[in-house]
Amino acid sequence: SRRYNITLLPGDGIGPEIMRVAVDVLKAVGTLEGIQFEFTEKLVGGAAIDAVGDPLPEDTLKSCKESDSVLLAAIGGYKWDKNPRELKPETGLLKLRAGLGVFANFRPATVFPQLVDASPLKNEIADSVDIMVVRELIGGIYFGTPRGFGTTINGDRTGFNTDIYSAEEVDRIARVAFEMAQKRQRQLCSVDKANVLEVSQLWRERVTAIGAEYPDVNLTHMYVDNAAMQLIRNPKQFDTIVTSNLFGDILSDEASMITGSIGMLPSASISASGPGLYEPIHGSAPDIAGQDKANPLAQVLSVAMLLRFGLGEATAADRIEAAVMDALHRGYRTGDIMSDGKTLVGCCKMGEILLEALGVRATAS
Ligand code: IPM
Ligand code: MN
Repeated sequence: SRRYNITLLPGDGIGPEIMRVAVDVLKAVGTLEGIQFEFTEKLVGGAAIDAVGDPLPEDTLKSCKESDSVLLAAIGGYKWDKNPRELKPETGLLKLRAGLGVFANFRPATVFPQLVDASPLKNEIADSVDIMVVRELIGGIYFGTPRGFGTTINGDRTGFNTDIYSAEEVDRIARVAFEMAQKRQRQLCSVDKANVLEVSQLWRERVTAIGAEYPDVNLTHMYVDNAAMQLIRNPKQFDTIVTSNLFGDILSDEASMITGSIGMLPSASISASGPGLYEPIHGSAPDIAGQDKANPLAQVLSVAMLLRFGLGEATAADRIEAAVMDALHRGYRTGDIMSDGKTLVGCCKMGEILLEALGVRATAS
């Protein structure tokens, strides 16, 4: 039988609650598919700062590197917001991404037919939207140097960052995005700000050059401000989007809302070789942590992405996605996706419903 080592990083806030549901679902699907999972739980983010004074302890990164895939929930919280950068939960996450070399981040914004009423957009605009945002994850302004604080000659304080991409960095994310587009509707929209930024001019030049290797994909370019507007005006025009780290961060939050809630969006981050990192795109929601109110579906759908992209276990992934659809179809909703006539449930209960949908009886764990 197949065996896989998975490092679990529950993190902060609602992280542990949604992770519990995701692991139950993963175990259940393992039983159904004859797959064995070996789990190693490690600290990251605020939890790691509190325990050992480091948002990404060495042994966490080591465990992640040695596993087949890494499942992360969420990090961050008010408690650490005022910490210096080296001691922020977010720094742990960024170091983890960089440490694993996961340069390509896939964020699918899919409007489930059952949730079209939860979208803030009109039904006919949101209906059947299916967008894949391919976000460059370990370069650009998030990591560029120089960065820091300084002073002007007048003594006024400054803060600065550097948005920088090498041709090679653009080429590799472009290839991954073209390959993704080939598996989808063969429409790739590259989003940049080439009318203002040199970094975007290089981006556009390289994406265009790589496009010559993929004549079957229709490549278009769009400025990021226009893309932000078009996503609301007519999201169905998009199939696959490729963009830089910061623009991808912003546009994926925007795209998620078309689906009804950011609580629905999973993500997969992959490297050239080595384990991938799977995480929901939402944060740790400290305001509702510990109240059993969180929506675990983005985390559960991240497990499906882990199985599909990371382990090549497509049937297991299909089962999980079908269970999510089934739960939604039967009218179960967490608060973030609640609408008239549906049944409001908490995080745990949603987990039980998923196990039921998988045909496995819920047991205490
Ligand atoms: C995300 C998050 C992170 C990011 C934060 C927590 C560092 O917003 O995964 O989208 O900006 O990448
Ligand atoms: Mn974000």
